[in-house]
Amino acid sequence: MRFTAAVVTISDKGAAGERADDSGDLLERLLMGFGAGTVSRTIVPDEQEKITETLIQLCGHGADLIITNGGTGLGPRDITPEATLDVIERQAPGFTETMRTRSLAITPRAMLSRAVAGTRGRTLIINFPGSPKACEESFAVIEPALGHALELLAGRGRECGR
Ligand code: MTE
Repeated sequence: MRFTAAVVTISDKGAAGERADDSGDLLERLLMGFGAGTVSRTIVPDEQEKITETLIQLCGHGADLIITNGGTGLGPRDITPEATLDVIERQAPGFTETMRTRSLAITPRAMLSRAVAGTRGRTLIINFPGSPKACEESFAVIEPALGHALELLAGRGRECGR
């Protein structure tokens, strides 16, 4: 299905123009390859209120899927999961549980991501870790279930039988 996607990069350095948004570029390419009609891009500093405002605005504009990247770890300014929990109405932990589990086979540092996922209205929001490598690996994990998730959320889900 055609869908509207948004990539939100959460990075103090990125927002200050001090770091190229390589992860955002990669996620945009992956989402276009997956069939997104449009992919909007936003860079936000690691500030809870700014992240929350951005997510609410994107949901209001009808995004079907928002992927955030960065700010999910244990650094003093990592606040993406808390901002996301402020915004979502229903949690969808399967995405991030599976990302962590599968990624542990690649790096033990996968256990450091506190990423969460969930829905607000008809928008699915999923936190990804920040590095391009982590984004690529995480997308590969969620990709097989993403189409069906978006269909269900849009009320177009058919039978769940595989
Ligand atoms: N997951 C995958 N698949 N690959 C990775 O390289 N890096 C981990 C983890 N998850 C990683 C990963 C690391 S090193 C950290 S600190 C956490 O994600 C949180 O990253 P973030 O603070 O950039 O969100």
